[in-house]
Amino acid sequence: MNFDETQKNWTALGEDDAMWVVLTDPDKKGNRWKREDFFATGQREIADVFIKLQKAGVTHLPGCALDFGCGLGRLSQALAARFETVDGVDISSSMIRQAMEFNQFPDRVKYHVNARADLADFPTASYDFVGSLIVLQHIPPRFQEKYIRDFLRLLKPGGVAYFQTVHARGWRRFIPHFVADFIRQRRSHGQPFIPLYGVPTEQVRRLIAAAGGELKHYENCGHGEWGARYFNDYFIVTKPGAKI
Ligand SMILES: C[S@@+](CC[C@H](N)C(=O)[O-])C[C@H]1O[C@@H](n2cnc3c(N)ncnc32)[C@H](O)[C@@H]1O
Repeated sequence: MNFDETQKNWTALGEDDAMWVVLTDPDKKGNRWKREDFFATGQREIADVFIKLQKAGVTHLPGCALDFGCGLGRLSQALAARFETVDGVDISSSMIRQAMEFNQFPDRVKYHVNARADLADFPTASYDFVGSLIVLQHIPPRFQEKYIRDFLRLLKPGGVAYFQTVHARGWRRFIPHFVADFIRQRRSHGQPFIPLYGVPTEQVRRLIAAAGGELKHYENCGHGEWGARYFNDYFIVTKPGAKI
């Protein structure tokens, strides 16, 4: 998928049943997510993230956080309890419109549509924390690389990034992305669809090092309904330098 197609796809996906598009629990399809249950999952996931940071011995300042691929703000709202300000960034204007409606902290949590294949509109060394969950997996690998590089650029010295990617397993590693997209397009009969793109773990590790990041912790596990074909990779990365 090229960048324009990606943006159109996610804007269309966010128009209807957006909570299910974010969390594809089969029991919740058809606008069956309750708002409080949906946002409670974000509170739990962010609590888990901070337990992992603590276990990895990574401390963070309670300053500014960026939630990349924020969708409806499920994680941004939870981050608001831990940071003074949160910027939620997403490619989809329909997701961002609804995130603004759900925003419980409009003075501290701001949402932005970012319709570009990098984060150049956000200033260097301006965040204490950059987080991204279940987002990069939906972005073509050549763009994933640009965003990950920018995560490191956006962090203040001493800042921390926590993000997730997926890598393909077994036979799935040998299917090129353009072939998988073609099959998905055919199966969805021209309707928007949720794409998935694996990137080998070693490639992400090399990218982190090349961008000047220090990998503090890495873990992997099966990826939900795609568990047989994809594995989740989780990275805790710091930007060297004293906290400022
Ligand atoms: C599965 S949802 C996850 C939303 C949120 N991270 C959460 O966990 O609740 C994936 C989100 O990534 C966004 N996304 C996809 N490609 C993107 C890109 N290139 N830049 C920013 N956001 C993107 C989609 O619009 C969608 O809101």
